[in-house]
Amino acid sequence: MAKFRTLDDIDVRGKRVLLRADLNVPVKDGVVADATRIERLAPTIETLIEKGAKVVVMSHFGRPNGGPDPALSLRALVVPLEKAIGGRHVAFAADCVGEEATRAVAALHPGQVALLENLRFHRGEEANSPDFARALAELGDVYVDDAFSAAHRAHASIEALAHLLPAAAGKLMEAELNALTTALDNPARPVLALIGGAKVSTKLDLLRFIIGKVDVLAIGGAMANTLLLARGKEVGHSLCERDMTETARQLLALANEQNCRVILPEDAVVASELAPGVTTREVAIDAVPLDAIILDIGAKTAARIGAALAEARTLVWNGPLGAFETAPFDRGTSLVARRAAELTRAGKLLSVAGGGDTVAALAASGVIDELSYVSTAGGAFLEWLEGRELPGVAALSDVSRGADK
Ligand code: 3PG
Ligand code: MG
Repeated sequence: MAKFRTLDDIDVRGKRVLLRADLNVPVKDGVVADATRIERLAPTIETLIEKGAKVVVMSHFGRPNGGPDPALSLRALVVPLEKAIGGRHVAFAADCVGEEATRAVAALHPGQVALLENLRFHRGEEANSPDFARALAELGDVYVDDAFSAAHRAHASIEALAHLLPAAAGKLMEAELNALTTALDNPARPVLALIGGAKVSTKLDLLRFIIGKVDVLAIGGAMANTLLLARGKEVGHSLCERDMTETARQLLALANEQNCRVILPEDAVVASELAPGVTTREVAIDAVPLDAIILDIGAKTAARIGAALAEARTLVWNGPLGAFETAPFDRGTSLVARRAAELTRAGKLLSVAGGGDTVAALAASGVIDELSYVSTAGGAFLEWLEGRELPGVAALSDVSRGADK
């Protein structure tokens, strides 16, 4: 990956810094349900404050239809943001461009912070409009992007704007890019990819890319059922994609060609339905009853993945291995997560995980802080695992442009 500038490389003293954050956090009944993204942004804001910058935070929130939507106002994030930066005051501008925004930014002294209203209240944001980007650029002297989780969007505040001002990665973006490149671009081997989730069809590009990159691919979740079908196993009433069997066969052949060892479940936890408290059975994969549903990997499979983890030096993980939202089908994911955490703690494994469900499953296992790096990015993490260039990362890597303005 190309080099990018960081906060150490830019002079921000007394300058207006436009900080692209991802404050797209889950909010329930007006209360932030998971503040991880806000907390992870705080060190960047604090560093900018220490350096005497005027910090102008901007973000999208939800998916408004290109116009104002009171239910998606970022005003609700002012107090949580203040809390995350040690109770410092955060001013709010009721529009992200124009007079309101200009006034709020002009009132800032070095070391002070303002938050602009939801960028997606303007159509120009998602359209990557040069005019909208110019209107944003008028509010700042320097651009800092700390929104890796939105880097897969070629939107004005992420793409066009990065070319209009001297641009750098914030601390969170820097940590995220460093972790991800260490895990896949130049990893300590063997590398094990642990991929779960429901469907092969939504992760085809990911699987094709990852097979060429890693030494071992362990697959769980309902997507494993489709690969088991391709290996001639019967999966009863389990969730699977019968029309993807041929594609799954090709993936297994590709893995074989590329010397990527594939670990599929050899046993499974089955039940007659997905419901809490339902009677479960653990069966060998060759003995899944016709009327049963596979809902988790079995103990042997978990142990096998654990053994492969112990041999690996690097782990990349996306997707839960069972129907983890419903106990006891979280057990396989939890066992593997705890093993990964243990090996990471012992300094034997570099472990990187990401994706919405994955983060929820790791949090439920209580080991989210014990892996080397857990990304809060959903779509961006997946696109990175597909080997795609993310517009937000590409724009930052383009250091020649905007550099001397
Ligand atoms: C996310 O939450 O995944 C990012 O903030 C991107 O949001 P989007 O999917 O609405 O573009
Ligand atoms: Mg999303």
